[in-house]
Amino acid sequence: MIRSLRGRLFISLTTVVLLTGLIGGVFAHRWAFDEAIETQDSVLIQIAGLVQNGGFAGTQDLHGVDEDSEVWLMELGKAPQGTSEERLLWRLQDGMRDATRKGKPVRVVLRTRSDGSRFAVAQSAGVRDEIAGDMAFRTVLPILALIPCLMLVIAFVIARSLRPMVRLADELDARRADDMTALPLRDLPSELNPFVSSINGLLQRMHETMEQQRRFIADAAHELRTPLTALSLQAENLDQVELPPAASERLAVLRQGIRRSKHLLEQLLALARHDAAPSDCAQSEIVELDRAARRIIANLLGEAINRGVDLGFERVESIPVRGEPVMLAAMIRNLIDNALRFTPEGGKIDVAIYQDGATGVLRIDDTGPGVSSEEIGRIFEPFFRGQRPEGDGAGLGLSIVKRIVDRLGGSIEAVNITETGRTGLRVVVRLPAAAT
Ligand SMILES: Nc1ncnc2c1ncn2[C@@H]1O[C@H](COP(=O)(O)OP(=O)(O)OP(=O)(O)O)[C@@H](O)[C@H]1O
Ligand SMILES: [Mg+2]
Repeated sequence: MIRSLRGRLFISLTTVVLLTGLIGGVFAHRWAFDEAIETQDSVLIQIAGLVQNGGFAGTQDLHGVDEDSEVWLMELGKAPQGTSEERLLWRLQDGMRDATRKGKPVRVVLRTRSDGSRFAVAQSAGVRDEIAGDMAFRTVLPILALIPCLMLVIAFVIARSLRPMVRLADELDARRADDMTALPLRDLPSELNPFVSSINGLLQRMHETMEQQRRFIADAAHELRTPLTALSLQAENLDQVELPPAASERLAVLRQGIRRSKHLLEQLLALARHDAAPSDCAQSEIVELDRAARRIIANLLGEAINRGVDLGFERVESIPVRGEPVMLAAMIRNLIDNALRFTPEGGKIDVAIYQDGATGVLRIDDTGPGVSSEEIGRIFEPFFRGQRPEGDGAGLGLSIVKRIVDRLGGSIEAVNITETGRTGLRVVVRLPAAAT
């Protein structure tokens, strides 16, 4: 069973063409052959008529168009005489007969003149069949030549007719996973319309479901913010109170827990927000990538110094990219935050921003432990924190970054630095540079 529609159409149409060609060819051959034999018969009859009316006399050969196709005039006399074949011929009745001449089959026309003498006009049966066969073949030849041409035309028409389907599949393949916009109905054959409408209906329903989920997460995070802020205020108030050492210790743990929860909520809200932003809105403004990075690094410099980490630029070029400033800032902040969190004291974080052809590149190298090869494929998954979760991590930073990069039409990859004598993670973001 052939699964491909193209293959099935081609094979069935080709079979029809071949069968039609074969049957037509056999009949055409048969008819042309019979017709050629009849024509040759009537030529023999005409020659016999001429001889009877005295047009030819004596035993002579009439040369045909080609040397084999000659016609013989055989005088048989008024009574059986000559060779046995001639005597045998004499005994046959007037008309068209099959006989032999010099042992070879011939077609003859027998006639009796008014004076009683008889003659035969004969032609070799083999030659006649050969001529007829030749003519019949020439009749069938155009049909035979037409079959491969028809097969080519069929293949071309099928490929052309299925092109909209192939285009549709390519378009679906090239889509981003979160792109739920309807497929265009124009330029499609009407037969595909119900199919495309169903896909569009499904996309619409998926979009609504995703939107509901996103709204739920955003609402839940938002609702949790107020009680959490109240809690953290209360914890701060407790700070003013003189507490026994055991209680202050527990209070510190409590405050740490509240901070983590706040961070998780902020990250959840950011994820929901960047999910919601329509893609064309992300393309609206031109932002200098280097300037955004400078601002964030300036903000995080204090923390880096506290941790004893050397945070700085290795290379900066002015790169304009299309995007929303908040999005780009969230992307850079999350990446540098990771590098800071995982780089031990005395370590180094190098940020490079440069243009590579039509893309702007943001590269962040740290001297942390890097990510094990089993985990590196999963770090962009939401809530993935690996084997050694540190600090207040929610496991959402890189998923937020990934969504932003996707939305901006860029790409991101994380690789372990494998230079001798050092470890670390290198994260490279590539964004299409905006034309200035
Ligand atoms: N620079 C890095 N060096 C080593 N491991 C890293 C680095 N960046 C990310 N990872 C690993 O990838 C995981 C996922 O990172 P991600 O930023 O998504 O979450 P997080 O930093 O743990 O939490 P959040 O960013 O939400 O506060 C981290 O928990 C860590 O295991
Ligand atoms: Mg992070």
